[in-house]
Amino acid sequence: MPEKQWMLEEIRRMKKDMNALILAHYYQTGDVQDLADVLGDSLDLSRKAADSSADVIVFCGVQFMGETAKILSPEKTILMPRPDAGCLMADMAGVEEAERLRREYPGAALVAYVNTTAEVKARVDYCCTSANAVNLCRQIPEQEIAFLPDRNLGQFVASQVPEKTFHMADGFCPTHHFVEPQEVHEARARWPEAEILAHPECTPEVLALVDFVGSTSRILERARVSPARQLVICTERGILHPLKKASPEKEFLVLSPRLICPNMKKNGVEDVYLALKNRQYAVEVPEDIRTAAYRSLERMLEYA
Ligand code: 13P
Ligand code: SF4
Repeated sequence: MPEKQWMLEEIRRMKKDMNALILAHYYQTGDVQDLADVLGDSLDLSRKAADSSADVIVFCGVQFMGETAKILSPEKTILMPRPDAGCLMADMAGVEEAERLRREYPGAALVAYVNTTAEVKARVDYCCTSANAVNLCRQIPEQEIAFLPDRNLGQFVASQVPEKTFHMADGFCPTHHFVEPQEVHEARARWPEAEILAHPECTPEVLALVDFVGSTSRILERARVSPARQLVICTERGILHPLKKASPEKEFLVLSPRLICPNMKKNGVEDVYLALKNRQYAVEVPEDIRTAAYRSLERMLEYA
């Protein structure tokens, strides 16, 4: 039996023996997405981690996703196949930045994108994902919001919620931030019939030129119902895998060669196999940080 096939069968067997569930984000490689029990965006996967009756969750994503699962479900063992799969944006705003925003804007609600460390989540009032950031910021009672770490997502939310005052941290996602407006113009010239869909982590200059802005799950939904036969995607290229599966009759193109997140690509099938075999690498969050972070994450789950 070829090695990969053997590993897939072992993964299936160990999952059953350990009552384990494999979660994977849309930015994972196609191989890893195909072996997952649940595929989703950050919000779907957080919900699934919280609601599942599994004893063990293998989280195929990046560090903040595994930490979020552990904060929401401390009784479960959360395994990250690659402990070095971090998020460069989450590293851009630490505790000092959260404390600076609190000091400078004492009347503002502190809202953190879920792409942050557990220590930051423990210090903020609310967490959100790109799927519910607009609704959450619109519906919370506070009129003034300090948003971290992503200034691009923050500016997009502010443009959709003009009735409130926003203050931004200065972080960004290198995968999305360095896409250039010129690349959108080039895509329009090359594929004039195509619809262009972008993630709100892109700059406001890029977002102003595209046809649709949304989180990964919203991009998937829009692509499914769009009348366009050709769609140009401006988010991490892993999303092509579920897009093509959902709409095999459509053509999907990636706007820029920059749209690859090296950390999301670290997990392979063998890492998932080793995670289950050796019960590695278990996520741990100190209890005082976990309980404080739980409050802001619990609020995140209240908004669609
Ligand atoms: P989603 O919230 O759309 O899943 O995106 C997560 C992410 O890391 C985007 O770069
Ligand atoms: Fe973080 Fe950007 Fe990678 Fe998402 S794509 S995990 S925000 S570095």
